[in-house]
Amino acid sequence: MDDAQVERAKRRAGESAAAAVDDGDVVGLGTGSTAAHAIRALGAAVDAGRDVVGVATSHQSRAVAREAGVPLRPLAAVSRVDVAVDGADETLPDGRALVKGGGAAHAREKVVDAAADRLLVVVDERKVAETLSHPVPVAALPPARSAVAARVASLGGEATLREAVRKDGPVVTDNGSLVFDCDFGAVDDPERLATALSAVPGVVEHGLFVGLTDAVHVGGPDGVRVTSR
Ligand code: A5P
Repeated sequence: MDDAQVERAKRRAGESAAAAVDDGDVVGLGTGSTAAHAIRALGAAVDAGRDVVGVATSHQSRAVAREAGVPLRPLAAVSRVDVAVDGADETLPDGRALVKGGGAAHAREKVVDAAADRLLVVVDERKVAETLSHPVPVAALPPARSAVAARVASLGGEATLREAVRKDGPVVTDNGSLVFDCDFGAVDDPERLATALSAVPGVVEHGLFVGLTDAVHVGGPDGVRVTSR
């Protein structure tokens, strides 16, 4: 797919998931370019009379929701959501495991996605893989950076501190964390790696999302394929 086709595929995936949101739902709003299409589609649905309330996962998704006219509730005021719509950097075909965090928003995304009765993942078809191998983003407390990098190495990963663009120095997340992109090669057992990363002191959150997805909306050049678990 060329760039324009990819953009159309992302839009199709986002619109497809937005159409699966029910009237009255509290909706988790994922971060990234594909989730943004879903948020805009929800905004159009609100204009047409649908009653939904969004819960943003980042400054970015909050800004998109405000512009689209989706009413918002603060994450801190929410203990569960009806449905979350979220993007991914890579997913197994059935969504059983995902890599997220390309936009460094995975900590709040995981809180929202795990609190959702239904998680709808939205991707273009380039993101679907039989085995996960995308580097896993790991958000860490800044003073723990050396210790976390060493523990990632002991788990077989190569941790690269994510550098900011148009700012000198590292990326600092919406929550004040640093982010390592951790290359483990092919991840044959995502659940085991997720458990190991969660146990590392100083790790705020990692980008492996295991066992949370209910459906994957995969946009392609000719339409959307939905795989449900
Ligand atoms: C944000 O930190 C990520 O988890 C995104 O959901 C992920 O990177 C997908 O983003 P795109 O839809 O822009 O590829």
